[in-house]
Amino acid sequence: MNPNKALWEKGDFTEIAALMRQSGEALVESLEITTPLRALDLGCGDGTTAVPLARLGADVVGIDIAKNLVDAGNIRAAKAGLRRLTFQEGDACNLQGVDDDSFDVTLSVFGAMFAPKPFDVASEMVRVTKPGGRIVMGNWIPNDPTSFVSQLLKISASFMPPPPEGFVSPMTWGVEAHIVERFGQAGVPRERISMERDTYSFTSTDKSPADVIESFRRFYGPTMNAFEAAQKSGTVEALHGQLLELANAQNKGTDGGTSIPATFMRVTVRV
Ligand SMILES: C[S@@+](CC[C@H](N)C(=O)[O-])C[C@H]1O[C@@H](n2cnc3c(N)ncnc32)[C@H](O)[C@@H]1O
Repeated sequence: MNPNKALWEKGDFTEIAALMRQSGEALVESLEITTPLRALDLGCGDGTTAVPLARLGADVVGIDIAKNLVDAGNIRAAKAGLRRLTFQEGDACNLQGVDDDSFDVTLSVFGAMFAPKPFDVASEMVRVTKPGGRIVMGNWIPNDPTSFVSQLLKISASFMPPPPEGFVSPMTWGVEAHIVERFGQAGVPRERISMERDTYSFTSTDKSPADVIESFRRFYGPTMNAFEAAQKSGTVEALHGQLLELANAQNKGTDGGTSIPATFMRVTVRV
């Protein structure tokens, strides 16, 4: 099986997405969309941003490589009565079956950054977006102590064998030079790309930082893999300790719950 697909179907990202709903809604609001509008949410998971987009009246297609998340998204859409929102399986590296110039907005929040061929991803996002439309990406930033997930993935990776040759780190999508190069190769000039740091929050009123790390351990593919590797090398306690230290250090919650602000790179491309 495609290892990228296997990674995301391994766990149950809906458990992590539950911590991200508020920021998803806020990000969608900040897009200031006006309807009618056709939107693609790429690497949509179970709809953290696709659902609020549809609630604002947009026609939304969510595309994700993980079947379990597509199914979960369609269940959420049906429960919410959002008939203009559909989720389907697809790969951000090759959006076959999606016509050129299909969408006014192509959104990808911590989604397309995880696809293994970043130049193909940029090219596909540009291809399916209408001229005059926009692409908005949210990407974690490498080596930034305030970018919670990038730190969590860095710790996780340090307990795993080195990645296969040719592996391009998803975190490179948080670096300006790579963003400009990738969209540049897709035909977008530098002046049409803007990049700014923004903040996403992982929040829960009833989960402590320790509970949040437990959720990553049980449900988030990359962390699950790190714990499996640590199990083999007898380093589970060290991995768990480092992740817990990270979550506790970044938690701003004061009432026993969790509120972890996480810096990300917000990329807007005018197509
Ligand atoms: C960190 S989750 C974010 C999900 C969602 N955007 C959210 O904010 O809740 C990453 C998502 O990207 C999806 N993904 C990873 N690689 C992909 C690819 N090549 N094509 C489409 N989706 C992909 C995963 O299945 C997963 O749903």
